Amino acid sequence: MDLSGKSIVVTGGNSGIGAAIVRALAAAGASVVIDYVSHPEDAADLVKEITADGGHAIGVDADVSTIAGLSKLVSTAVDEFGKLDGFVNNAGIEDRHSLLEVDEESFEKIMTVDMKSAVFGTQLAAKQFIQQGTGGVVVNVSSVHEDWPMPGNLMYCVAKGGMRMLTRTAGVELGPQNVRIVNVAPGAVDTPINEETMKDDSMRQKLENSIPLRKVADPAEIGDVVAFVLSDDARYITATTVFVDGGIMQGSVGL
Ligand code: BGC
Repeated sequence: MDLSGKSIVVTGGNSGIGAAIVRALAAAGASVVIDYVSHPEDAADLVKEITADGGHAIGVDADVSTIAGLSKLVSTAVDEFGKLDGFVNNAGIEDRHSLLEVDEESFEKIMTVDMKSAVFGTQLAAKQFIQQGTGGVVVNVSSVHEDWPMPGNLMYCVAKGGMRMLTRTAGVELGPQNVRIVNVAPGAVDTPINEETMKDDSMRQKLENSIPLRKVADPAEIGDVVAFVLSDDARYITATTVFVDGGIMQGSVGL
């Protein structure tokens, strides 16, 4: 995978799948911009690790739930690395509430972090690509739940379903300008979002038995696919979703 010379922003890049994406991009030669709000020390450690390995990364104090924060990420990439080639909308949260439990606060929090940040991250990146005249790639890290109900996790499914149509609609709008927009949809991954399940042996067993590859993904297994989608090897993929789920969506009850 070759991303050398590319300048790429990863939101939520300081933990979980985001950190694995940052590592994969830097290993492929990209210069990476990472945001932090809640854990500046995690971003600093990751930046240090990548720099020690000979890569390029910088952490920026930016809140991706605001347009100002997203703009800061784009302008930092341009100021530090001369241009923007890719933008990964990875930041996301879930709160595991059913329809009957959802309240206004939960709605607003999840729609802001998971959906608003993806819409405006995609918009700002696309404007920059068009202004440069270079084209570029946006990867939206969605979930199998962009298409697959998860009872008890309603707002997450609503937000990821929205991301599904963001990618399809914006991908169709911007294809003629050489802007590719692609969802990468993980299944169950060993990250903080799944901490409770992973800690509980019987929940973990149940989850792993429902996955044809019989294991929860390592974050690097998602990071590698994101790096591929951002690379020129994936130049004909746009306005669609690449599922990276160990087959979980095709799982059956068995005999
Ligand atoms: C969710 C997890 C869930 C997994 C598989 C992910 O998108 O964040 O909570 O375990 O999908 O269903």
